[in-house]
Amino acid sequence: MSATAVLSLAGVTLEYPDGEGTLKALDDVSLEVPAGRILSLVGPSGSGKSSLLAVAATLIRPTSGSVTVAGTDTSALDDAGRTTLRRGKVGLIFQQPNLLPSLTALEQLVITDRLRGLRSPASFTRAMELLDLVGLSAAVNKHPHQLSGGQRQRVNIARALMGSPALMLVDEPTAALDHERSESIVKLLVELTREFGFGTVMVTHDTDFVPLTDAVAGMRDGRLRSGLPADFGRVRTE
Ligand SMILES: Nc1ncnc2c1ncn2[C@@H]1O[C@H](COP(=O)(O)OP(=O)(O)O)[C@@H](O)[C@H]1O
Ligand SMILES: [Mg+2]
Repeated sequence: MSATAVLSLAGVTLEYPDGEGTLKALDDVSLEVPAGRILSLVGPSGSGKSSLLAVAATLIRPTSGSVTVAGTDTSALDDAGRTTLRRGKVGLIFQQPNLLPSLTALEQLVITDRLRGLRSPASFTRAMELLDLVGLSAAVNKHPHQLSGGQRQRVNIARALMGSPALMLVDEPTAALDHERSESIVKLLVELTREFGFGTVMVTHDTDFVPLTDAVAGMRDGRLRSGLPADFGRVRTE
């Protein structure tokens, strides 16, 4: 793994029981994602995109192969170690923001620090800064039902930034949004990847916005089809 890769999958296979046999959700997938770069992952429904993210997030153990997140080989970790690694290093953004209805935008972010065992006024300061960064400084005290779909997704993104992740995993973030809002969400994810320097994998159906990202990889039947530029895994020099 190169020094700057925040995610490295090597020969990853994930099998599910399927009747008498097995279904290969991931079939010998190898991939490196460097810090500060964003990869689009595209492919038909059922091709293994969400499975790849779940394995990278250490939510699912692969059947074989290795998963290295921010320099840590996850195969050596027990469940508690994986949870600690995930909370400390991985940001997750799904299609549905899954915000808590009773909490304000600010509280949605602060509670993630509480879950990490952090109780400090600094949590509020950081949450305010991040909400400002995603364009929601006027909405910090609003509840989810008072926000638009695009605003809810921005809260979701700001929340994922609270833990200062090294790796950001994003699954269909724009599936519920119109074209214009989708474009602004993808642009925001690109900007945040640059600014914070984490590595991002974004699963998307919106091939319109793929050119905004650094590279695109296609999946089919659990296999990663080539298409990554040869220099994607290398250090950015500009
Ligand atoms: N928990 C599971 N149990 C059994 N099969 C699963 C499970 N999750 C996903 N699969 C299967 O694995 C394959 C890949 O699924 P998924 O990763 O969700 O694809 P995508 O996100 O590209 O639509 C599909 O055939 C799906 O039915
Ligand atoms: Mg999926």
